[in-house]
Order: sequence, then structure tokens, then C-alpha cells
Amino acid sequence: MGTIVLGTGSCLPEKRLTNDDLEKMVDTNDEWIATRTGIKERRIAGKGEEAYILATRAAEKALAQAGISAQDIDIIVVATISSHMIMPSCACFVQKELGAANAFAYDINAACSGFLYAFDLADQYVKADHNKKVLVIGAETLSARVNWEDRNTCILFGDGAGAAVLAYSDSDRGIMASNLQSDGSLWNLLYMHGPQSTNKDLQDKNNHGSHILMEGREVFKYAVKAMEGSVRDVLERAAVDVKDIKLVIPHQANIRILNKLLERLQVDEEAVFINVQKYGNTSAASIPIALDEAFQAGKISKGDMVLFCSFGGGFTWGASLITW
Ligand code: ACO
Repeated sequence: MGTIVLGTGSCLPEKRLTNDDLEKMVDTNDEWIATRTGIKERRIAGKGEEAYILATRAAEKALAQAGISAQDIDIIVVATISSHMIMPSCACFVQKELGAANAFAYDINAACSGFLYAFDLADQYVKADHNKKVLVIGAETLSARVNWEDRNTCILFGDGAGAAVLAYSDSDRGIMASNLQSDGSLWNLLYMHGPQSTNKDLQDKNNHGSHILMEGREVFKYAVKAMEGSVRDVLERAAVDVKDIKLVIPHQANIRILNKLLERLQVDEEAVFINVQKYGNTSAASIPIALDEAFQAGKISKGDMVLFCSFGGGFTWGASLITW
């Protein structure tokens, strides 16, 4: 008995930006990017592809798969750090686009871990009231939030959105355990300023503009250790052996982080879903996009155990285990 996923959906922008394209923009090359990150190309939003539009398209597919209408949704939570406006939230725009008149809607910011944080929130709402149906979305247009002259970061990120509808089931399926963690003391290893303050007293001389800054090596080190800890915690609490997991769907940060993590956890290659080569790091959108692709590819069936894990700015990290 628990919270299950009724439907998933995803939406990627049309435009592809390959490593060869990036070679013409900054001092980099396909070989460097591919060997260090596994990324070959990423999608970049064009006109009419704001985060809320990508989110809405992903949500429409998730609702169709769930076999319910937008009016059946009670809560919409969007995880994002790159909505086109600070206020209203991306979620309110999604509500308007969907016509989800019975839902309240809000965004959360937990960077790349946003989807797992929202997933856990949805689980709590559903556990508290078995009639609730929650639409959880990860949506990003990080192409608007990178410095296209900084080769350390601009090669990593991409745009896209993924959605899932969560609801109660009295079967033996559902979310088994989640582990969410944060460490704000390490904020300055991965961050993005907002616009400069119009209050002179609050102005920050170190405001570098609204784009991502990162200490890549440090992030790498913490990411592997932190995700391993969260995964081990959920496995232990659910009394599940890693060998019993049908599919691991990690945040698609980069292939070297994932390989290191999977090596430590001793997960077989065929039990992991990876699509970072096509989309780069889409932050909060990466897990729901990968989940939708894995489901569409027939890699998940009813009763399978699926494990998610993530790490991102904050630092924030976590893991979640579900019987599909
Ligand atoms: N092309 C070519 N050379 C580059 C590029 C580039 N795009 N970027 C950096 N370099 C150079 C550096 O300038 C440096 O040159 P130098 O030795 O002359 O100074 C050299 O390559 C090595 O740079 P490092 O930063 O030490 O490279 P590293 O091997 O650590 O790889 C990377 C960098 C891929 C970012 C790695 O640190 C990493 O994977 N970090 C994790 C970061 C991450 O995934 N962040 C995403 C957000 S958080 C999350 O989602 C988990």
C-alpha cells in the first residue's frame, strides 16, 4: 500500500547542440567533453520553449498515460531553478496552461535534487489523504543560466522537462523509502546568483550574474560519497539488497560520477538507465525524463523495484526506492 506513479511524460526542445557545435563557441573539443562527462549533445530551448511550456507538454503526456484529466489533479509541484520568471511560479503557469482549476501549485528549489524532493513531498500528501493526486514535474531551461563563455560549465547543461502523476494504491506497490539531505555550508562549490539587489544595503559585490558557477572537482568528490550514503540508507530501511533492484535511474550529471557511484554500490551496468549522452545535465528534469524514457522503452514493469538518486547545488542530495 502506498504512493504509486500513474503516468509519466517528458518533453525536450527541438534544437540539438553537439560537442562539435560547442567547439566553435569555446576552447573545447568533443574528445575532452565525451571522455570527461559522457555527453555528446544537449537540447537547447528555442522560441516558445520556456520551462513552463516544456513542463506543460511533459505533464499532458503524464496525464494521458495516467488516464486522468487536468481537473483531477489536486497539487502541482514543479522543481526548477530556471523558470522564466521568479514570480509567479513555473507551477502556476503550468496550472494555467493545463487548465488544472482544482489544483494549488508551487515551485521548489533543490537544484538537481529538486525532482526527488518534490517526489517525497507528493508521497507525504498522498499518505496524508489517499484521495489526492499530485503532479510532480522537473523542468529546466539551464541554457538561459550558463555563461556561454565559460567552458568549465557551459558544456555540461541542457534543457528539458519530465513529469509524473502520483496517487494512492492499496496494492503492495508504492514508494518504499526516501532519504533527503542538504549541506548549506558547501553552497559556494556550486551556485548561481539572482539579479543584483535594488536595495543598496543588500547589494553583493560578488554577484557574478545569474549563471552557474562551480568547483567541478569538489562537486565530483562530494556527489559520489553523498549519493552512496543516501542509497545505502534507503536500501537498509526497506531491507532490500542492491541485486534486487530492477533499474537504477540516477540524476544524469555525468558519466564519470555515475560510473564511480555504481562501482561503489556494485550495480550491474544493465541495471542502470543512462541518457546523459543525449541531453547533458538537465538538473531537476533529468530523473523524470530518464524515468519516462525507461518506461517507454519497456525497462520497467509492475512490481519492479526502481531506485532514484540525485545530487546538486545546496548541496542537496537524496535517494528514493519504489515498487513500480
Ligand atoms: N574543454 C577543454 N578543456 C577544459 C574544459 C573544456 N570544456 N573545461 C575545463 N578544461 C580544462 C581546465 O581548464 C583544466 O586545464 P588546466 O589543467 O590547463 O588548468 C583541465 O581541463 C582540467 O580541468 P578540471 O576542472 O580539473 O577537469 P576535471 O577532470 O575535473 O573535469 C569536470 C571537469 C568534468 C567538470 C569534472 O570535475 C566533473 O565531472 N565534476 C562534476 C561536476 C558536475 O557534474 N556538475 C554538475 C552539477 S552538480 C550535479 O549535477 C551533480
